[in-house]
Formats: sequence, C-alpha cells, structure tokens
Amino acid sequence: MSAATDRRTEASVIAAWRALGDPRAAPDRRWVARLTGASLERVDATLGEADQLLPFDREIGAAHRAGGRPSYAQIRAPLELYAIVRLARPDHVVEVGVSSGVSSAHFLLGLRRNRHGTLHSIDFPTFAQGDRPGPQESPVAIPRGKTSGWAVPDRLRGGWDLRIGRSEELLPSLVAELPSVGLFLHDDLHTPAHLAFELRTVEPKLARGAVVLADNTVWTGVAFPRWAKHLGVPWYRRRRSDLVGLRAPDGSGVRAR
Ligand SMILES: C[S@@+](CC[C@H](N)C(=O)[O-])C[C@H]1O[C@@H](n2cnc3c(N)ncnc32)[C@H](O)[C@@H]1O
Repeated sequence: MSAATDRRTEASVIAAWRALGDPRAAPDRRWVARLTGASLERVDATLGEADQLLPFDREIGAAHRAGGRPSYAQIRAPLELYAIVRLARPDHVVEVGVSSGVSSAHFLLGLRRNRHGTLHSIDFPTFAQGDRPGPQESPVAIPRGKTSGWAVPDRLRGGWDLRIGRSEELLPSLVAELPSVGLFLHDDLHTPAHLAFELRTVEPKLARGAVVLADNTVWTGVAFPRWAKHLGVPWYRRRRSDLVGLRAPDGSGVRAR
C-alpha cells in the first residue's frame, strides 16, 4: 500500500469515528488481522472503505444526540466489526446485546457490502424512565418510545433478524435454527456464568475459522480465556481493552461456513 493510500485510509477512519462521536473507535488493524487471518494490507484496504460508512455513522451519531445520548456507551470497535465481516464473509452473524444498535449497524453495513449473509441479534432492552435517559440511569437504557436498535438507519434494516427477549431463552433456539455461526459477539449480561453459557451454546455450530468476540471481559473473569483453552486456540485483546476475540479452529466438529 502506498503512503498516499495509507493517509487516505487513515483520514477515512478518523472521519468515521468522529462522526460516531467516540474517540475509542480508533481501529486496531493487527487485532483484525489476527482474528481473520488476513494480511495487514487487506485489513487496511477494508478499513479504507470507512469513507462509505460516514453517512451512516453521521446518522447514528445524530440519532444518539437526539435521543439524549451524546456520549453513549457503545461497542468500542465498530469499524473493526465492519472489517471482520468484510474479511471473514460469514453466512450468519449472531450478536447478543443491541441497545441502540451501533454494533448491529456495522455488522449490517459489512454484510450489505458483501452482498451475502444475515445478522441475527438478540436484545432484552433496558428502558429509560423518560424521553431522554437521566444521569442516574444505565448508559445502555433505551429512550421512551423507542426499542432495541433505535439508532440503526432504516435503510440498513432489510433482512435483519432482530429478536427481543433474554439470551437465556432465545439463544439456544436461534443457534439450533442456524446451519452455522461465522461470527459471534457477546455484549449483553457480563457475568462469567452467562458468557460461559453463550460460548457453550454457539460452540457446536461454529463455522471453520469463525470469529468469536466478547466485550467487557473485565467483568467475566476467566470465562473467555478458559473457553479459548478448551478450543485449543489463542485469544487476542483489542489494544489494552477488555474487548477480546478468537478465531475458531479449522478442526473437526466445526462446520463449513
Ligand atoms: C452494552 S449494551 C449493547 C451495546 C451494543 N452492542 C452496541 O454496540 O451499541 C447491552 C445490551 O444487552 C441487553 N441485555 C442485558 N442482559 C441481557 C440478556 N440476558 N439477554 C439479552 N440482552 C440483554 C441490555 O439491556 C442492553 O441493551
């Protein structure tokens, strides 16, 4: 990649994360490369598509501000989620934990660009008391009158399988319905037992080389590293954060994508 292309990619990425209003969104290209097995050049090329995400990220940022969430606590790696979808080309993406829908929107953007694959999301929403969540309320609370995924632009919603309810009740049947899971994100109830339950539930359907991500692992102790050990693969931390991921083995018992 030339220095000029490098600079253009960086400028697109910076613009996209500013539009989201969250400086934490600066992407970790090495993390994406480790998780997908792609070269850094391919990762950079995919992140270079960030300029095409800009109109969507501006719309999501504007929806957050209108909903009283100027500094909404969202997934810290939306651009990486997009890049992982582009590079891994999953048939089925499963995420648990939607709230306003930053992660969902970036998965949907990647799938749309791939012209392939479906996003299945589960959320048990936490509602705010009023139209604008108060300072004492959960940072993931949904403003009155809205529901899970409220900031996802309408033009991205076609084909989105969004299910409202507790993961404990919905995830096993969703996974049973799917032929395979090519990408999984845990971003809901952050307890060790709950994360372990979700990882155990998706494991039998993981596609070869599937990417599995878990956020806020500061609260889930050894649940993720222990599962990685059980699979016999390394796990990777995004920068110094507690958003982690692994690439499922290619071995037997793991399904075709
Ligand atoms: C951190 S937010 C998700 C943020 C989202 N991934 C994003 O990028 O904007 C966590 C969400 O999980 C929901 N949740 C909490 N416990 C849950 C459970 N047991 N099953 C499903 N969703 C749950 C919360 O209400 C909230 O909407």
